[in-house]
Amino acid sequence: MSVIALLGAQWGDEGKGHIADKLASQASIVARYNGGDNAGHTITIGSTLVRTHLVPAGAFRPQTVNMLGAGMVINLRSLAREVDELNRIGANLTPERLKIDVAAHLLLPSHVALDGAGESQRGAEAIGTTKRGIGPAYTDKAARIGLRAALMAHAQRGAFAQAVGSAIERANELLTRIYGQPPLDANAIVQEYSALAARFAPHLADVTPLVHAALERGETVLAEGAQGTLLDLDHGTYPFVTSSATTTGGVLTYLGVGPKHVTRVIGVAKAFCTRVGAGPFPTELKDEVGARLRGTGSNPWDEYGSTTGRPRRTGWLDLVALKHAARLNGLTELVITKLDILSGIHPLRVCTAYTYHGTSSTDLPGDPTILSECAPSFIELPGWQQEIGSAQSRTDLPREAQAYIELIESFTGVPVSHISVGPDRAQIFEM
Ligand code: GDP
Ligand code: IMO
Ligand code: MG
Repeated sequence: MSVIALLGAQWGDEGKGHIADKLASQASIVARYNGGDNAGHTITIGSTLVRTHLVPAGAFRPQTVNMLGAGMVINLRSLAREVDELNRIGANLTPERLKIDVAAHLLLPSHVALDGAGESQRGAEAIGTTKRGIGPAYTDKAARIGLRAALMAHAQRGAFAQAVGSAIERANELLTRIYGQPPLDANAIVQEYSALAARFAPHLADVTPLVHAALERGETVLAEGAQGTLLDLDHGTYPFVTSSATTTGGVLTYLGVGPKHVTRVIGVAKAFCTRVGAGPFPTELKDEVGARLRGTGSNPWDEYGSTTGRPRRTGWLDLVALKHAARLNGLTELVITKLDILSGIHPLRVCTAYTYHGTSSTDLPGDPTILSECAPSFIELPGWQQEIGSAQSRTDLPREAQAYIELIESFTGVPVSHISVGPDRAQIFEM
């Protein structure tokens, strides 16, 4: 029938995995389209908490086929670990249930080493990447020297081993000559990755025709985004971004579907803001409210990275940035997560304009230097004291929480379709 695009409307970690797991009940295909194992998506089903990095959120919906699209960069070592873990708890990710696009790129240990070396060299200017090799893998893709997943089909004929060996040797030149680091053991990597390629070759597929066949049968395809709009390579806070298109444009180009197929574009946003890694963050709080939003780490949903464990930076909800995300993506709806975390904070502040050199604007500037010098203007709203984790409808929410949601809708011009008041599947309700 159509593609539902579900993507992060802030700086990542908005709760995409949680919402994608819920919406996957309506889909026959769940497809990741961008990024790699820099993503960390949390799914909570009763007492089971799962973190996915590469595998789409349909893993626990038996009727879905899960696809890794052409725009992804895939570390086979991470994929093997993740598939084994998910299968242990019942995901059953057979080649029929998990497909890898032939055009996706393989992310090798050399990319991981180069990511780490590049970050060390940048010193105080470091991006704060996840050090998963994402930037170097996309660099090779753009330079047309990357290894596509299709090569895995040729693991037996030596072509795969030769391509991996050459890639490691090329990276070793950079590691030793530019970064002064020891070389990687090309033979050991070739052996390990040849075995991984043989394991995952049966999962290879042409994802785009499979997606179109499902659409022609009248089925729903859920496109699960990774990272967030403000980490988009083109539209994010460059250079403090990831190396892929995280926006609706990424869904189209990376899955190979035209805009007419995308009937819903769902932006997932937290009721406040977080960011992990460096870069501008106008509403950041470095005080006790920021610490309260982050939590101490004692709850699984506290703001510590799902992939790296780093404490996330926290701040007030930024409606200027959210409106920007609504426009960039053509959002048809918003899903607001972690509204429960605001219980007990009074007053609440929400950013509705930026001031730069005395001039106020409700547009997010494209120049990151200007953005980092913008001062946020806030409006205050009354908070609420009640716990809201058991709310099941808009009217179950305190009046102040309803007003908070109404402000989001009126400022962005996008209706809020669902609200999440806790990490469990059952704690998401439709508005
Ligand atoms: P993703 O990368 O967008 O999938 O988000 P992460 O999984 O990295 O981070 C979101 C965190 O918030 C996870 O620990 C989720 O379990 C948790 N979470 C999502 N929605 C809610 C919510 O409504 N309330 C609470 N308390 N936690 C939530
Ligand atoms: P999910 O899908 C939050 C951030 C990193 C860094 C920048 C570049 O869980 O929302 P990279 O390793 O991609 O080169 O890092 O992007 N980043 C994320 N932040 N959530 C993510 O994924 C992220 N993936 C990358 O912290 O600032
Ligand atoms: Mg995450």
